Amino acid sequence: MNKIKVLIADDIEETRNVIKKILGLEEENIEVVGESGNGEEVLRLIPKVKPDVVLMDINMPVLNGLEATERITMEYPQVMVIIMSVQAESEYLKKAMFHGAKEYIIKPFNHDDLTQTIITTYEKYKERQGKLNASVVERRDTKVIAFFSSKGGVGKSVLALNTAVVLSKEPNKKVLLIDMDLQFGDISMLVNQYDKKTILHVVEDGQMDSYENIKPYLFKYHDNFDMLFAPVKPESAEYITKEMLEKIMKAVKNQYDVIVVDTGINFSDHTLYILDMAQKILMVSTMEIVALKNTKSGLRVMESLGYDQDKVKLVMNRFNEKYGISKKEVGEAFKNGVFAVIPDEEKTVADSVNKGLPLCEDNKYYKLKIGKAIEVMCKELVK
Ligand SMILES: Nc1ncnc2c1ncn2[C@@H]1O[C@H](COP(=O)(O)OP(=O)(O)OP(=O)(O)O)[C@@H](O)[C@H]1O
Ligand SMILES: [Mg+2]
Repeated sequence: MNKIKVLIADDIEETRNVIKKILGLEEENIEVVGESGNGEEVLRLIPKVKPDVVLMDINMPVLNGLEATERITMEYPQVMVIIMSVQAESEYLKKAMFHGAKEYIIKPFNHDDLTQTIITTYEKYKERQGKLNASVVERRDTKVIAFFSSKGGVGKSVLALNTAVVLSKEPNKKVLLIDMDLQFGDISMLVNQYDKKTILHVVEDGQMDSYENIKPYLFKYHDNFDMLFAPVKPESAEYITKEMLEKIMKAVKNQYDVIVVDTGINFSDHTLYILDMAQKILMVSTMEIVALKNTKSGLRVMESLGYDQDKVKLVMNRFNEKYGISKKEVGEAFKNGVFAVIPDEEKTVADSVNKGLPLCEDNKYYKLKIGKAIEVMCKELVK
């Protein structure tokens, strides 16, 4: 067997020497290929010494262990980071695992603790990487459809959900709905599912790297329709970095024909990442004056981002004649027109929200005006 190549990152020289001594005794399996006292240097050393494992201290100058771990996970995903920490740093430990560390070991440790941790971590992840490379990735022409709005409460989630429901009824279409409203996502509520796994669990358990790993965290709504729910608590959102989201999207992307994403209401890094990759962005608005104003400025931002009019489509939700404006006039108010007009049907929608049963789930949904409108929109979307 090849020796496991270890890089030691700790700002205290004494500690590095102790570790080197410990690992030196275990000549059989482990080889120390480098050492460094700061995170920045660790990143520079990796391409040179090509370690399998980095033993990482948390408190280091220039770039601390947490930041270094995050960057290693992104830039060198095959390198396994094992965090070395004292008991008092348990909060950091949790963060380090969020940032991609594979394992941790509590200081002080003895010879057996250290070598065993290195060997078991290495074997566990090597095996997994091997499997990953071997599995044939399905190639599909995945269409990502993002629902966005620059004002809350306009019906973005209801429309994203029902769009996914309708699209999943098409034969041979595999659909994933992702609730990317990380703080206030409520898709799980709209389908009456509580205590289910969420994207936070995927991240916490470090299972972002492959579809196989993510699968157990998806809620299977139908045979060909999965959902990935948002965290239950708003404060959990901060643990999900854009890099983590990127990994998840890369892993799930080719596994579905359509991925519908319900986003938050601001142009956060996470949202921008989704909007960039989307083939269609459905900008949802209502006829309310504040919604219209925010939608106009939202559309301007999209234009400045370089998204063309084929990508960004306006959806006028809760359309109601009682505002005294016709569909035609609404269309004329926006230079690129309106892609879909969804009628205001308070009772139907409220009933379905309260029951946790998507309105387009009903066999006869298309007999309702609102169901018909959503269906027409879906046809246009996948044309
Ligand atoms: N076409 C419609 N007709 C009547 N009521 C609607 C319609 N669409 C949405 N609603 C109502 O509007 C409310 C908000 O909808 P939803 O939660 O989908 O909005 P949102 O834009 O996702 O909001 P948030 O900003 O909270 O995420 C819901 O309670 C729903 O009942
Ligand atoms: Mg919502």
